[in-house]
Amino acid sequence: MNEHENGAPHESTVVAPASGSGELTTPGGLPARFENPGLPPHVYRASDVDPAAGKRAERQVAALFTLSMIATVVFLVAYFAIPDDSVFFFPGIGTIKTINVVLGLSLGFSLFFIGIGAVHWAKTLMSDHEIVEERHLLRSSDVDRAQAVDVVVEGGRNAQLDRRPILKYTLGGALGLFALPFAFQVVGSLGPVTIEELKHTIWDPSENGGKPIRLMRDPEMTPIKLSDVTQGSVFHVMPETLQKYLDDGKHVLEAKAKAAVILIRLDPNLIKVKKARDWGVDGVVAYSKICTHVGCAVGLYEQQTHHLLCPCHQSTFDLTEDCAVIFGPAKRPLPQLKITVDDAGYLVAPEGFHEPVGPSFWERAR
Ligand code: FES
Repeated sequence: MNEHENGAPHESTVVAPASGSGELTTPGGLPARFENPGLPPHVYRASDVDPAAGKRAERQVAALFTLSMIATVVFLVAYFAIPDDSVFFFPGIGTIKTINVVLGLSLGFSLFFIGIGAVHWAKTLMSDHEIVEERHLLRSSDVDRAQAVDVVVEGGRNAQLDRRPILKYTLGGALGLFALPFAFQVVGSLGPVTIEELKHTIWDPSENGGKPIRLMRDPEMTPIKLSDVTQGSVFHVMPETLQKYLDDGKHVLEAKAKAAVILIRLDPNLIKVKKARDWGVDGVVAYSKICTHVGCAVGLYEQQTHHLLCPCHQSTFDLTEDCAVIFGPAKRPLPQLKITVDDAGYLVAPEGFHEPVGPSFWERAR
């Protein structure tokens, strides 16, 4: 495309002939490079000439949209009816969660039937008149733009929505229902979550019949005696209640994700407990390992400075000051786990965490 001196583009230098009239020409008389094949003869579809065929196509499209609605209803029922721990074995793949398969298939079929319904509708009932569209400037004139709106409106008429209201209603129903699973996913999977739910971990005595929970080495799952924890040593700890999740093989990762704890013995004289509580034993203290920034594992202990470091964004927590944040993007201390010693000399947690573990955005109060 060339431009005039004032910058306004003019029409293409290649002049298209009238439809079907032969060779292309140029203003300078250059040789034509393309033959205009013109339009092939129009072929009428069965639904164009036979009202019964049109009616049949209408019913087929409506049936496809109805199948989509059924698939969506299956999704919604399955979402509530299938237990989360229901699994089955599929040869070559292994154990699969039933709900994942049913939700995936039903949602897939729901979308599939809307798609092929729309394609079948377009191929059998919508207008199929061939048109020739000449090249034009990138930005259409205001008149063309207004005409485009008219074309869209006309398209609605060509789709026969006014003449065939069953298509309008079944398509509306299929599309409307199709949106519902996403709403359920958002409402059901992302929220609402209460502070109590966030605070609950498998350190809660309710997970152990109300009894204190032993601290276990991770991953050996052996109990830890107070005498095992020498000054300066570090233990990565899980609650004994994790064992039943390991035995069941269900929800192990969810249980572990919030339960990771780091256990350290400090010189008791160094501890400047700020809160009105003493939740350690002889300098042995336990804190959540889940960083309060965005949840990485705080696993680096600087023995000389008594600092815990998060490797992700370098948040640094001071163990001598109740794990207060002294550097980095974390906004609150690591939650402390109260510990004591049982009659056999093993370390136990008599209570769960008193605040949500993990990133601060979980904590609604801040
Ligand atoms: S996750 Fe720990 S500092 Fe960012």
